[in-house]
Amino acid sequence: MDAIHSLAERVRNLRPSPTLAIDAKAKALKAGGADVINLSVGEPDFDTPEHIKDAAVRAIRDGFTKYTAVGGIAELKNAIIGKLKSDYGLDYRPEEVMVSTGGKQVLYNIAQAMLDPGDEVILPAPYWVSYPAIVELAGGVVKCLPSDPKKAFALDVGAIGSMITSRTKAIILNSPSNPTGAVYGSDDLTAVAELAMKRNLTIITDDIYDSIRFDDKRPENVASLMPEAKGNTLVVNGVSKTYAMTGWRIGYLAGPEAVVKAATKIQSQSTSNPNAIAQKAALAALTGPQDCVRKMAAVFKERRDFVMARLGAMPGVECVNPNGAFYVFPDLSSYYDMEIDGRKIDGSLALADYLLDKARVAAVPGIAFGDDRFIRFSYAADIKTLKEGMDRLEAALNALKG
Ligand SMILES: Cc1ncc(COP(=O)(O)O)c(C=O)c1O
Repeated sequence: MDAIHSLAERVRNLRPSPTLAIDAKAKALKAGGADVINLSVGEPDFDTPEHIKDAAVRAIRDGFTKYTAVGGIAELKNAIIGKLKSDYGLDYRPEEVMVSTGGKQVLYNIAQAMLDPGDEVILPAPYWVSYPAIVELAGGVVKCLPSDPKKAFALDVGAIGSMITSRTKAIILNSPSNPTGAVYGSDDLTAVAELAMKRNLTIITDDIYDSIRFDDKRPENVASLMPEAKGNTLVVNGVSKTYAMTGWRIGYLAGPEAVVKAATKIQSQSTSNPNAIAQKAALAALTGPQDCVRKMAAVFKERRDFVMARLGAMPGVECVNPNGAFYVFPDLSSYYDMEIDGRKIDGSLALADYLLDKARVAAVPGIAFGDDRFIRFSYAADIKTLKEGMDRLEAALNALKG
């Protein structure tokens, strides 16, 4: 029997994460000796701050190496409650908080806990690559809400109301956004909060990039702007991006107790508690000095400005100035339908392939984020690397123009 037939339909229909696939291809090329500039990665290039690593070493030495409570240790839950209070003015009880193996597992648990087959989730596009797969794995159906780069990818609040059906359970918001770097306006967030209350909709607010915003405003989300909407809101966050801790795998959820309890039940029968040592490290991250966070955000801003200046000087490249996260998402579609060396650039996949093969620059095709016009470049790399990456991109695009 062909082994593929023994696999569930669920997994046969599942697309592997395209960002991880490109990253793997770039790393394999690099391992083979190729000089690849990898701008496909979704993680800060900084090292985890020392005081956080020290806390993990201490945890190991102290024998903090056993199972913990499924939804996370009490101290960490309290630290999360402290962060949500100080950053957002939101009050949560420990029963309303769950710690998981990264923000990704939080989202997975939520989908498994909330969605019945056929339930709909509204997803503003461009969206983070894993949202559709997470919804679909739970049997849910994604309803895309397009956004317009001419309006800086602002949320089209007016369209949401008409997308809601009797099957609509939730909307996912991600601000600052991966891949666009857009930060939603307070008025738009407030309008979505009002709509959610009126139409009995859950808002999943993925705030994982909340510390990396360039407008000097405090973090905000639907619940901080409209406290009455807290009962409709699931706050998703984590330490991966804020503290350069992607490999530690700690994310968290705050929301209504019934949902948190259900999500924790899913976790109890899948992965159990998140890594005990990483929980101690996350505790040190949230309760320790925060100047490392501000420093990293300031460096990202310098790099954003550098990359935007370079892209701005390239003909036929349109790019919305990102207000947060560490990605630029230029529209490179003016280079589509061109041919080079017998290769037709018929969309973002072909262009990303061309850039990797010919220019040795790894970037993620926009189609993975729901819009084929764009390519995502991460600027989580030092200026020297970014300069080389932009030089190569410019040369590769010029070569396409012939
Ligand atoms: C928008 C968004 N949400 C959630 C995550 C998940 O992060 P983690 O699982 O590392 O906490 C990522 C990571 O790339 C992301 O970009």
